[in-house]
Amino acid sequence: MNHSLLRRGSAVLIMLALALLAGAPVRADGDGAALYKSKCAVCHGADGKAATLAAKAMGSSDLTSPAAQKMTDAQLIEITTKGKNKMPGYEKSLSAAQIKEVVAYIRELGKKK
Ligand code: HEC
Repeated sequence: MNHSLLRRGSAVLIMLALALLAGAPVRADGDGAALYKSKCAVCHGADGKAATLAAKAMGSSDLTSPAAQKMTDAQLIEITTKGKNKMPGYEKSLSAAQIKEVVAYIRELGKKK
């Protein structure tokens, strides 16, 4: 094992660490359920029904309600992307593909009624 090899190895590790620190975007294939839990459950509740104290305080919508489920995917994507009143937009923190995954998960929650 010579020194230059060791040095190259640690350079790779440092680059990896930097990529992580820079907040490398969540995996593009991030699944909707995990995204929902990390980004949306705080305000809409794990089940989407916005039945938690925090959800009520925020005035979050019940995502499993007929009103929400009647919206088209395009409408749900639009609200998630751009936000609505107190609902934050996710244009900057999620990719279009991730927003689609999350909306697909909202459909799953709607079916669980
Ligand atoms: C900071 C709290 C908060 C977070 C986090 C949040 N929401 Fe919301 N959301 C709201 C509030 C409040 C509303 C109601 C907005 C209104 O109509 O005034 C709302 C409304 C919505 C609606 C519209 C439903 C309807 O019936 O009008 C959708 C869709 C939605 N949120 C999806 C999401 C998704 C997907 C995420 C995660 C990526 C998310 N929300 C994260 C607070 C939040």
